[in-house]
Amino acid sequence: MPVIAVIGGQWGDEGKGKVVDLVAEQADVVVRFSGGDNAGHTVINKFGKFALHLVPSGIFSPKAISIIGNGEVINPEVLFKEIDTLKKNGIDTSPSRLLISDRAHLIMPYHVILDGLEEKLRGGQAIGTTMKGIGPVFADKIARQGIRMADILDERNFAEKLRSAIEQKNLILTCVYGEKPLSEAKIYKTYLEFGKRLKPYICDTTAVLEKALKDNKLIMLEGAQGTMLDPDFGTYPYTTSSSPTAGGACTGSGISPRAITRVLGVFKAYCTRVGGGPFPTELNDDIGDEIRERAHEYGTTTGRPRRCGWFDSVAARFSHRINGFTGMAITRFDILDTLESVKICTAYKLGSKTITEFPADLSILEKCKPVYEELPGWRATTCDIRNFKNLPASARKYVNRLEELVGCSTNLICVGPERNQTIVKKEIL
Ligand code: GDP
Ligand code: IMO
Ligand code: MG
Repeated sequence: MPVIAVIGGQWGDEGKGKVVDLVAEQADVVVRFSGGDNAGHTVINKFGKFALHLVPSGIFSPKAISIIGNGEVINPEVLFKEIDTLKKNGIDTSPSRLLISDRAHLIMPYHVILDGLEEKLRGGQAIGTTMKGIGPVFADKIARQGIRMADILDERNFAEKLRSAIEQKNLILTCVYGEKPLSEAKIYKTYLEFGKRLKPYICDTTAVLEKALKDNKLIMLEGAQGTMLDPDFGTYPYTTSSSPTAGGACTGSGISPRAITRVLGVFKAYCTRVGGGPFPTELNDDIGDEIRERAHEYGTTTGRPRRCGWFDSVAARFSHRINGFTGMAITRFDILDTLESVKICTAYKLGSKTITEFPADLSILEKCKPVYEELPGWRATTCDIRNFKNLPASARKYVNRLEELVGCSTNLICVGPERNQTIVKKEIL
């Protein structure tokens, strides 16, 4: 059975939640492997409309086990809220269906506070983070001073780890930022209580995955964020702090690279980005506003307006190189239905030079001007179409041109937010 990684191909919010929800109907296990509650994955299906931040979007599939993998960082309060909302809507979130890796790191109150303070200190260079404590928690993970799920199950171990963490964080809070120190006792008590509620969910999820592989089960690895937000390959430092790529799917779940058989790249039919950082095809004009309003491009997590622009095939090709996509899912196709013409960025102009490689150096990227190819729009409603050959000819041409430029075929075209509003151009499995 295949292991399918579903990866954001652009700057996040590509529609991974919708795609995972759809494909997970057939899955046995779905693992979220990166990020934390900076992610907001929208799922609309027969159970209702949900914005998932931590729980995998496979939770709606009655036969699938959902795993919060070791690569995710967890704010317990957010997780409890999410579990409660799902429960209220009749979704089974019992520990027989939802598991949490004992190696996953916890977002502590100081991570959230420091995220805000660090952003303020950056001033004009602020990243525009989601303020969920993501940068600080991953910094602690890499600095080997994080607190993991397994730690809060052992009172003594937790007390020791928390003491040394609080000592350091209070020094930073008081001496660097002039803030009040945090109460160790209060955090200790709160997180021990969290631990009690989390305990039934916590296990070595790598063993569950090993068994699933042996039993020939269909496993999905659900990415958060997008490749262009990857700290190695994205627009660093305007990135997130964990790897949203196919490589990250292995390290964030404990699955061998040899086990992954499909890598589905999710791309919007145009581009969006939230927060700071360069975005070569950004449209600061009426078309950008039209896309934002028509698509309601406002963040699922923060409500911030998303920056909108044309499809950037330079960035998409780079993303394909990093992930080795076996196919694309092109989402929000219907949003372009009203446009007279559509543009695709095929290269960048850098002074008098034309470049087709995505630059690492942001001072160069900032100077890049997109070179566009303009195609006729289709000016027809696509949201009820379920077959590729029934799309208007110019819509098919647009898809074919994206495939040529990215160098990757298309599995799915999404023509609406609901599960069934999807065209299967080529089967994934
Ligand atoms: P994710 O973070 O990648 O899961 O994406 P988000 O949920 O943050 O943002 C994607 C938005 O697009 C959500 O509001 C989805 O409901 C919506 N969406 C997904 N696919 C389509 C589509 O094909 N058409 C339209 N109109 N909306 C879509
Ligand atoms: P999903 O999974 C879009 C962006 C933030 C900011 C940068 C760093 O829904 O696609 P962070 O809080 O991670 O330190 O913020 O990354 N960002 C996202 N943008 N979708 C996401 O997740 C994102 N997660 C983080 O806006 O620019
Ligand atoms: Mg999102």
